[in-house]
Amino acid sequence: MFTIVEKRRLNDSMTLMAVDAPFIAKKAQAGQFIILRVNEYGERIPLTIADYDREKGTVTIIYQKVGKTTLLLDTLEVGDALLDFIGPLGKASELEGHKKVAVVGGGAGCAIAYPQAKALHNMGVQVDVIAGFRNKDLIILEDEMREVSDHLYLMTDDGSNGHKGFVTAALEENIKNGAGYDFVVAIGPLPMMRAVCNLTKEHNIETMISMNPIMIDGTGMCGGCRLTVGGETKFACVDGPDFNGHEVDFDEAMKRLRTYSEQEKEATREFNC
Ligand code: FES
Repeated sequence: MFTIVEKRRLNDSMTLMAVDAPFIAKKAQAGQFIILRVNEYGERIPLTIADYDREKGTVTIIYQKVGKTTLLLDTLEVGDALLDFIGPLGKASELEGHKKVAVVGGGAGCAIAYPQAKALHNMGVQVDVIAGFRNKDLIILEDEMREVSDHLYLMTDDGSNGHKGFVTAALEENIKNGAGYDFVVAIGPLPMMRAVCNLTKEHNIETMISMNPIMIDGTGMCGGCRLTVGGETKFACVDGPDFNGHEVDFDEAMKRLRTYSEQEKEATREFNC
């Protein structure tokens, strides 16, 4: 059993949870994920490792209450335990060899972008974080992202905090002003990652994205995370989750993401009854 040692609300729909899992904490690296099961009747869900503490033996996850399992997970409190907590899974992000990087996070994607920014920062790389949210109430990890970046550009769609506009506007302005990025990491909703990739392609800047959002069971067996990268079939959970964003077929990935939306809505309705 894996005991919850910290639970913190980040906003109305997102929660941070630190779990006692010393063996995973020992090996975890940025970009990897865990699979958890709340109880013996629960489904397995993959969640990115948002942080880890090797000394304390804890692994931090951040989840958004979007379906039955995350609603169930959210009923647990500090001292409760998860039945399964398996990892670290997936390939660690390849972050070596860069001098100045823009890490771009959109909404809940900032939970995945943060460990990438932290790893780059700890490697001595110059890091600009561009984080976008719909409004000020949805902002997460502001202090944490500020701590691991040379500059934090906070964007909100409605201008209620930070600058008004999308992350791509800030990224484009920085590129045009000569920021000199040699690598971009983009993590967030698929339309956002596609928009970032279109922009960086124009400017010939290598770009890595995380396809974590399309994973289902995270084991390479369900086929739910199949995608086309550079004309080849890949599985986000075993070949990724990180890929060269300029090679990903976003149209296909977006279609795949919607495959089980009706079933998920039905399960959530049943859970709430
Ligand atoms: Fe099922 Fe990758 S998530 S095969």
